[in-house]
Amino acid sequence: MTNADLEKLVDTSDDWIVSRTGIRERRIAANGTATSDLAVEACRRAMDMAGVRNDDIDLVINGTVTPDYKLPSTACVIQEKMGLTTAAAFDIAAACTGFINGLSVAKAFIETGQYRRILVVGSEKLSSIVNYTDRATCVLFGDGAGAVVVEASDSDRGILSTYLKSDGRLREWLWVEVGGTARPYTPEYLWNGRDKVLMNGSEVFKVAVREMKKAALRVIEDARLTPADISLLVPHQANLRIIAALAKRLHIGHERMFLNLEKYGNTSAASVPIALDEANRQGRLKPGDHVLMVAFGGGLIWGAALVRW
Ligand code: UT7
Repeated sequence: MTNADLEKLVDTSDDWIVSRTGIRERRIAANGTATSDLAVEACRRAMDMAGVRNDDIDLVINGTVTPDYKLPSTACVIQEKMGLTTAAAFDIAAACTGFINGLSVAKAFIETGQYRRILVVGSEKLSSIVNYTDRATCVLFGDGAGAVVVEASDSDRGILSTYLKSDGRLREWLWVEVGGTARPYTPEYLWNGRDKVLMNGSEVFKVAVREMKKAALRVIEDARLTPADISLLVPHQANLRIIAALAKRLHIGHERMFLNLEKYGNTSAASVPIALDEANRQGRLKPGDHVLMVAFGGGLIWGAALVRW
């Protein structure tokens, strides 16, 4: 879906969208495609790249806010579709930070020795909760999925540090208000689009820049590094201006950041793993590189992970 397509739906313009967000296109999954279908494709490619078989996977962690069903978790559907019969599976509902939360949980499970090989997924069909009559939100979001295999290793490479934080007092700044137990559906709510994403963009923007900076510095410090040691910043792909403001505060130049939001928009939990995969396939990641991933989203919630590639 291009900006020109959106110009036909709401009162917006390519100029406004590009200058305020950096986004030019987003991918919208077909009717009949579920979040798990996107996730399965990403999981297959991650497992092929890692050279692991089905029975090597001990756990599937899937970050999503657009699950296939309310019950069971989408991770269980992914497990079934992939035939990962030896694995446990659960979802993480941490919005755009879901993949970072997944990495953090995977790190902890591996460090305790409970699991050895974990599939960490971020998958979203955000188009299912976007209001295509609300120009303040519909231009931002897209569908997608990304996945990685995290495994126990004795090498000094891997996930060095992670940090997670949230502030539920700010939940009304980015939420889907209706459809849960607090506010079940009513015809009036549905009519007013309150079962779709609502956002106070400018407030979220400020928190995002401030808190992602803190989260980034925290994981860098925990790994006993400095921002100068970061080889590549792979941020949540929400808004080019947010990423630029963050990078400036971390003194990370354009050549050390990875951007792909112009093609995909904000894919929530899928955004960081899609960016990581594209950076890797483009040869931007070399063994020993320090990769900083950082994200924020509805909760509000934010977090970071630092990886030695
Ligand atoms: O994963 C986390 C997801 N959340 C985010 O990433 C949100 C972070 N926030 C943002 O990215 C930005 O706040 C937005 C891109 C959403 C908005 O940019 P902004 O510079 O904060 O604009 P604004 O909300 O202050 O709106 C400025 C103007 C308003 O018009 P008036 O009141 O000044 O006349 C809006 O009505 O832009 C108008 N506007 C639009 N105009 C054309 C809002 N959306 C659009 C649009 N096209 N799509």
